[in-house]
Amino acid sequence: MTERLSGPFRLGDRVQLTGPKARLHTITLREGGELHTHHGVLRHADLVGQPDGSVVANSGGHEYLALRPLLRDFVMSMPRGAAIVYPKDAAQILAEADVFPGATVVEAGVGSGALSLWLLRAIGAEGRLVSFERREDFASVARANVETFLGDIPPNWDVVVGDLAEALPATLAAASVDRVVLDMLAPWECIDVVAEALTPGGVVVCYVATATQLSRVAEYIRSTGLFTEPDANETMVRGWHVEGLAVRPDHRMIAHTGFLIWARRLAPGAILPEVKRRASKSSYGDEDVELWTPGAVGDRQITDKNLRKRVREAERAAEGARQAAGAGDEESE
Ligand SMILES: C[S@@+](CC[C@H](N)C(=O)[O-])C[C@H]1O[C@@H](n2cnc3c(N)ncnc32)[C@H](O)[C@@H]1O
Repeated sequence: MTERLSGPFRLGDRVQLTGPKARLHTITLREGGELHTHHGVLRHADLVGQPDGSVVANSGGHEYLALRPLLRDFVMSMPRGAAIVYPKDAAQILAEADVFPGATVVEAGVGSGALSLWLLRAIGAEGRLVSFERREDFASVARANVETFLGDIPPNWDVVVGDLAEALPATLAAASVDRVVLDMLAPWECIDVVAEALTPGGVVVCYVATATQLSRVAEYIRSTGLFTEPDANETMVRGWHVEGLAVRPDHRMIAHTGFLIWARRLAPGAILPEVKRRASKSSYGDEDVELWTPGAVGDRQITDKNLRKRVREAERAAEGARQAAGAGDEESE
């Protein structure tokens, strides 16, 4: 991997330039290269050898701040085939899945390769990432994005084109995978092969966009009896404006990206000790519905007698309205 994270700028480096009016340009430093804008010309040679974070002027005297893009800058601006995992969720996935240097990790689908880049960084050169994607075109976008950011395709990364449910057993031995991350529409369709591939104690994390997907994959994981009780969460990040005395949350935020749900593979033959709590139901009874009524949140509950009185009042009011309407009709005749 030739990812260059620090040190003075060198030829081949990607550099993010913030110019007049905060306009952003991302360039790759080349021999004899120039950035032409209507403000003038900036020679790449003026950046080579400068420390990251330098300010350089172009031929018109306009200043540019030069920084190497961080991984989060790159994934947010790279070409997309499918929707990407946002950096805030990628960070959570790495934590909940406990991705470690040297781990063997499976991900599906690879989409645009955003999560692949975070996973590759977390597993390091000793780890192995196998990314499955059923669309060849998306796999090509992901490969190109990873190559652009890292400078080449790392030798410890394989992209397999195919449906995970069929391709995973054909690619990796049973119980040989430490971590699995599923970012796809129907992760429950892949849980059986994931259970087969995961090593005992291994972690599966699913990233899903809707509550219905969350529920379905949770119930599927439970139904296999092969995993620990699943945990789930979502992460909301609210930016803050911090300037002088104006210290307050940003007015706008991305309120929803997705949910994470994760569980660990039990050892072969292990049966989860009975969970000491009332089992969840799969259909709603009257008492469940009551959880959502005003009575449940402390509002005074209406007695049957009172309810009958209100019915009579409502009917009298309706009768009055009918009579008034009838009288109006007579008047207008
Ligand atoms: C939201 S995208 C993944 C984005 C990716 N994690 C990223 O950060 O760029 C979902 C991808 O999963 C792929 N996919 C869905 N079901 C799949 C399956 N069963 N096996 C392999 N790929 C699948 C889709 O083609 C799509 O590219």
